[in-house]
Amino acid sequence: MTTSIYLAPFQGITGVTFRKVYSSHFQGVDKLYTPFFTAINNEMKLSPRKLAELGSISENGVEVVPQILSKDAEEIIRFALFCEKQGFKELNWNLGCPYPMVANKKRGSGMLPYPEMVDEILQKVMVETSIRFSVKCRLGYFSPEEIFKLIPVFNKQRISELTIHARIGKQLYSGETDQDTFQKAISLLSVPAVYNGDIFSLSNFQKVSDRFPAINTWMIGRGLLSDPFLPAIIKGLPIETDRPATIRQFIGKLYFAYRKQLNDNPAVLGILKEYWHYLAESFDNPHKVFKKLKKVKKFDEYEDAVDVVFGEYEWVGSEGKTQSGEPALSLF
Ligand SMILES: Cc1cc2nc3c(=O)[nH]c(=O)nc-3n(C[C@H](O)[C@H](O)[C@H](O)COP(=O)(O)O)c2cc1C
Repeated sequence: MTTSIYLAPFQGITGVTFRKVYSSHFQGVDKLYTPFFTAINNEMKLSPRKLAELGSISENGVEVVPQILSKDAEEIIRFALFCEKQGFKELNWNLGCPYPMVANKKRGSGMLPYPEMVDEILQKVMVETSIRFSVKCRLGYFSPEEIFKLIPVFNKQRISELTIHARIGKQLYSGETDQDTFQKAISLLSVPAVYNGDIFSLSNFQKVSDRFPAINTWMIGRGLLSDPFLPAIIKGLPIETDRPATIRQFIGKLYFAYRKQLNDNPAVLGILKEYWHYLAESFDNPHKVFKKLKKVKKFDEYEDAVDVVFGEYEWVGSEGKTQSGEPALSLF
């Protein structure tokens, strides 16, 4: 069974520039998901910024999948038709976002307790569009039992693929993944399933893939952002011997690509700091590495900090970590 690996969507990180630069340095990813899009207006005129963020239908041969966060069937249809016209093959619907600002309005994972609402929206979307329509969700918002009322809806509406982050919305990113409920859920699902949640290393991957032999597609977020080689490691692909040099080259390219994209706007530093929060995990001292980067305020300070990091700390990757592989730094 071939293993497929998807880059998880990350608001603020997996934008067009990251997708381009990442896929030109690292192997092993089969689909790249955009962060979610919202507020698609009636005329379906994406602002130039949003259109640029949507980017190309593939990067370095890897398919790009746009994602939408919405509870408005008409808005989803407009975006689906637009994406289809642009040449995208798939649109993904976000039913996983856990943040109260989103979820309290019955959007993202906040819609999971309302399977009839999901059904009604899917019914309309499936009739009006022909692009592959996939869903990314959690096991529920308040309770993991919610998934069992959603599965018949996903089966009936024949979505193209269901990615489940094996947590509930209320958990945000804390606590364990609920693998027992995930197991039960996939046994009832008749559309292809994708596992998502806490794959930080090859050994984490081996555990979940032993646990779920029926799954061959895995979505990875934080683990891949921390160790960009992780998909290639999992797939056993050949990897450059000097990994720190590749990481350094990658982060350098990313820096200049963001400066170009944002015309040297200082916001570049904010984006890079957010990314370093994950990348720092794969150095021998994540706290000290991130601290160096966190305090920079200017481009030259950033460049100096990167020099110091690569000079003074060791890139150990996901394989060199002694702990269970879980992140040392907490999420924002
Ligand atoms: C800062 C941040 C931004 C995220 N943005 C999105 C998003 O735009 N769309 C989405 O479906 N999931 C989003 N996620 C969730 C991830 O895609 C993923 O499901 C989650 O991190 C669990 O996978 P992991 O354990 O492999 O990281 C985000 C997570 C974080 C921490």
